[in-house]
Amino acid sequence: MQIYLDHGATTPTRPEVIDLMVAVMRSQWGNPSSLHWWGERATMTIERSRLQVASLINADPEGIIFTSGGTESDNMVIMGIARQYRTPQHMIISSVEHSAVRLPANYLEQHGWEITRLPVNRQGLVEPNDLARSLRPNTVLVSIITAQNEVGTMQPIEKLGQICRNADVLFHTDAVQAIGKMSIDVQTLPIDLLSLSAHKFYGTQGIGVLYINPLMTKKRSLIPLIQGGGQERGYRSGTQAVAAIAGLGLAAELAEKELPLESLRLAKLRDRLYALLADIPELVPTGLMGCGRLPHHLSFYHQHIDGRHLVREMNFAGIAISSGSACSSGAIEPSSILLEMGYSQSEARNSIRLTLGKSNNEADIEWTSLAMHQILSREKS
Ligand SMILES: Cc1ncc(COP(=O)(O)O)c(C=O)c1O
Repeated sequence: MQIYLDHGATTPTRPEVIDLMVAVMRSQWGNPSSLHWWGERATMTIERSRLQVASLINADPEGIIFTSGGTESDNMVIMGIARQYRTPQHMIISSVEHSAVRLPANYLEQHGWEITRLPVNRQGLVEPNDLARSLRPNTVLVSIITAQNEVGTMQPIEKLGQICRNADVLFHTDAVQAIGKMSIDVQTLPIDLLSLSAHKFYGTQGIGVLYINPLMTKKRSLIPLIQGGGQERGYRSGTQAVAAIAGLGLAAELAEKELPLESLRLAKLRDRLYALLADIPELVPTGLMGCGRLPHHLSFYHQHIDGRHLVREMNFAGIAISSGSACSSGAIEPSSILLEMGYSQSEARNSIRLTLGKSNNEADIEWTSLAMHQILSREKS
């Protein structure tokens, strides 16, 4: 029996998406920039996807820019906003951002920018008053992750965005983990820029979106990272990945349709697994529980056992989980996210994450609990 509980790392591409992508590759392989029939068909495919993605986040389709994924979208914001200034300014991020925001911000800091990293509490939450207090006359961007990948904590995005809007400062959120799990409406939420990635909601790897609020571009610009043929309204040059974009569109449409029921179903399964593991005192939950957490997400640290060791043992039992952030699972350092949340080095090193998805059912949950109990009682003896 194989059980995949690492949907935070990536999700399997849906069969409908694969079928559509194959059909697009077979018959709509034109270059969307070409003026002939083949080009027009590819353009129509891209524009349909733009509408589907826009609908998922209730955006103006004009604001949807296709990129290669979450990492590129995040980099595009941090570097693209910075590059419009001749002299270094001030930016604010949280201390629990994904490395795709954290590292470009570090780079800017090395080049004279001032970066404020907002602290979080033990649940991983940013305090909105800290943001309000950190704003300066030369703050040009605030970037706060919508939902943290390692601990599933959802930030008070509405409050944080409103503070930025009141101060006329741009607000970006990395919604890569949140899209498809919680509903996000960029018309009602004060969001100027948002990153998303198809492979976290059953599209394929290597395709994503940066949403740019069209009202923002009336006042400020974002200098593209990739220059060339001027595709995607000049924000992201390069011939578009038509098939992957088509797949992203379909994944977005299906995610929008399924989200209300699926997130309830996942939360129920997640809560069941949480309850089944609650009799293991050495397994300590991290992050928030309840409605402030992504519905498919569980995370723990073990009081004595290295997280990577547990991941390997579970893998031998046919169950895929991850330790800390999946993107840095190969690294030996403890999770910097847990350290920022106030956990010790050993607690951060012993962290694990279980993220559920479409294929998981009751039986998977029971089996996972059984395997975890067996492994941990074997380790004890
Ligand atoms: C919160 C967050 N942001 C960004 C990324 C990077 O996205 P991508 O894999 O599409 O580059 C990830 C990937 O795990 C993520 O979890």
